[in-house]
Amino acid sequence: MIQKQYFGTLTGHGEVFSYLLRNQSGMSVRILELGGAIMELKVPDRIGRVADVVSGYDSLRDYMLDTTYFGALIGRVANRIANGEYTLGGKSYSAFVNNGPCSLHGGKIGFSHRIWSVKPIDGEEPRLILALHSPDGEEGYPGNLEVTVTYTLLSSNALSIHYEAKTDRRTPVNLTNHAYFNLGGYASGTIFDHVLRIDADRYIPTDGDLIPTGEIRSVKGTPFDFREPKTVGRDFYTDSEDLRLAGGYDHCLCFTDGETREPTLRMEAYEPNSGRLMQVYTNQPCVQLYSGNFLNNAEHPQKGGYPQIPQTAFCLETQKMPDAINREQFDDVILSPDEIYDYTTIYKFSVR
Ligand code: GLA
Repeated sequence: MIQKQYFGTLTGHGEVFSYLLRNQSGMSVRILELGGAIMELKVPDRIGRVADVVSGYDSLRDYMLDTTYFGALIGRVANRIANGEYTLGGKSYSAFVNNGPCSLHGGKIGFSHRIWSVKPIDGEEPRLILALHSPDGEEGYPGNLEVTVTYTLLSSNALSIHYEAKTDRRTPVNLTNHAYFNLGGYASGTIFDHVLRIDADRYIPTDGDLIPTGEIRSVKGTPFDFREPKTVGRDFYTDSEDLRLAGGYDHCLCFTDGETREPTLRMEAYEPNSGRLMQVYTNQPCVQLYSGNFLNNAEHPQKGGYPQIPQTAFCLETQKMPDAINREQFDDVILSPDEIYDYTTIYKFSVR
């Protein structure tokens, strides 16, 4: 079932709507036209009590002005590009620098802050098809890019996000979703007790500006080894240069054996009090594990007035490597006119 609802008015655009998708297994998700953001995601716990497990805001103003990227679709290039600069086909390009010395998450007005066109397709497994046209030269990126993102709420209590993009010139593309999760409920406190498993054998160290140093390092013996399940908190305060520089987890972890053809189970997060389990399937090669270290903006409280507090939510942003456009040994992020960008990430919810 799909319900369309007025959310707010945007100067220069007009009314902005959200879409509530519900299945028959007790799960619902609300998506906003602005940024295609997941505003709300409700799933039952062990005894059937439903809670909203994603961070979000109550007003359009907060979605426009804050820099958390709560639930939003991110593009044209997710994560950081050092100095916003890169060369492609012998030509230099500059993307807007919006985060220290970097261009982050698409630049000045990334896909997260654009209004997407939304086509609802109702049914037992309701679906939203979101589309965006990113013109040639926008934010310093070459080529007209046509982006389609399909959200499907499956009967198995999973939210599937299918990303597709086409270009008419070679351009870097790296799309993701920036949902912040707390499986105890978004207002339930820190995430340190969540048990996390990530099938990643390498990670990317960064400098103090969170720009990759260029190294791809084994997770073995580091706080980034989640191959055996462990709590988020276990190694959080260990003496680690990487964690210190980033103020917590804010790193790209590379899945064992790289990207897969079909979405593969790569990550699990379990919250012992509620019993909620989230399993993440993807065919992307990497994930940005982010422990919400910058959740500290008192001017933009979350839904219901709940304050922003660091480490009360985490992101598992499936994507390719950060600053890959400037690093030969990193993932290939160039999309050519003869290719289709095609990735899927599925967040599946159950209880244990
Ligand atoms: C990403 C980055 C973080 C932070 C958030 C948004 O996940 O890696 O450093 O900028 O986005 O606040």
